Amino acid sequence: MGLSSLEILNFRNLHSVCIEPDAGLNLIIGENAAGKTSLLETIFYLSYGRSFRSSQIKHLIAYDQDYFRLLASLDDSSTRIGLERSTTDQTIRVNHQSISKISELSSLLPVLVLHPDSHQLISAGPEHRRQFLDWGVFHVEHQFLISWKKYKTSLGQRNASLRMQQSDQLCSLWNNELVEHARIIEKHRLHYLEKITDIVNTLSLQLFPGHKIGLHYKRGWPSEMEYVDYLVSNLHKDREKGFTQSGPHRADIKITLDSQSAQSSISRGQQKKLVSLLKIAQLTLFSELSQRRCILLFDDLPAELDDDNLNKIMSILSRLDIQLFVSAIQAHQINCQYWKTYKVFHVEQGEIVEKKQNPLQAK
Ligand SMILES: Nc1ncnc2c1ncn2[C@@H]1O[C@H](COP(=O)(O)OP(=O)(O)O)[C@@H](O)[C@H]1O
Ligand SMILES: [Mg+2]
Repeated sequence: MGLSSLEILNFRNLHSVCIEPDAGLNLIIGENAAGKTSLLETIFYLSYGRSFRSSQIKHLIAYDQDYFRLLASLDDSSTRIGLERSTTDQTIRVNHQSISKISELSSLLPVLVLHPDSHQLISAGPEHRRQFLDWGVFHVEHQFLISWKKYKTSLGQRNASLRMQQSDQLCSLWNNELVEHARIIEKHRLHYLEKITDIVNTLSLQLFPGHKIGLHYKRGWPSEMEYVDYLVSNLHKDREKGFTQSGPHRADIKITLDSQSAQSSISRGQQKKLVSLLKIAQLTLFSELSQRRCILLFDDLPAELDDDNLNKIMSILSRLDIQLFVSAIQAHQINCQYWKTYKVFHVEQGEIVEKKQNPLQAK
């Protein structure tokens, strides 16, 4: 689903903004510190209930205000989402009904983001790669969230037993449930990884010609052992640490380029291109499996890629059924020729104005 309108009140420097985005491409243009990333951040917030830049709510609320409010209409023309957040409270409404689960918003409004720190998907810790994987699995496999929640509950119970130095027998009481849900989580993750690898291979012909990208799942305990055996043999180590050190919550994906670890062997520029490729693969798989539209937020696109790759990526994105928001300092940096229609929004000191296109320009 995409957005057909977005109203923002008191989010960072966006005090009062109302826009009606294009169903396809939206260029968000403005000088540094105008408010471009903040605009993309509001759309991300509506899907994830958090920011991709800051974990502190007080950083998101406009300095002199107590709360921010986001209102959006989805392009199915019947769904309206409202979210209000102060430092202490949060209210979420879908069609005027209060809801408590962010996952409901995420299902209604699937959003992916690429921003200047997105190279962390390759360069930083495994939690970034697990988030990547689990976003994909969550949106196509509903059983996954149920198993994941049950797994986390059992994990919390086992960790509490470990911290309380309970007997081996009590600590091991949760093993069976952990093993059962771990099996389901792993099954869905492997299935997803297999499907996305096919798309990655096709995309790499354009973005990494002559190279082979590999995605290998690392399950979170030694591959030659059964999870239950590992939990039993590692109990004393878990006891020392006070938490369970193995399982799907510690899984990772090893990403390789020509069999070398992408983390250590490729440049920052290549990492950015590879992350773009991985997210595009996710978008492609999402539309194939769910028959729904997803939003992609591409913050500071020209800063991320050279002209040749930028053009290739814009061309690939134009063939996907997505709503795209791209921010840049100047409009001419983005090649819009592949889109039938698009809108340009100018951001200046927190004010956002749509710049009407000459109909001949928007081909
Ligand atoms: N909580 C806040 N209240 C008001 N202004 C803020 C807040 N947080 C950040 N800003 C300001 O908002 C402006 C817009 O930032 P940003 O969206 O990052 O701009 P851009 O992406 O266009 O460079 C910056 O000047 C920043 O200092
Ligand atoms: Mg910015």
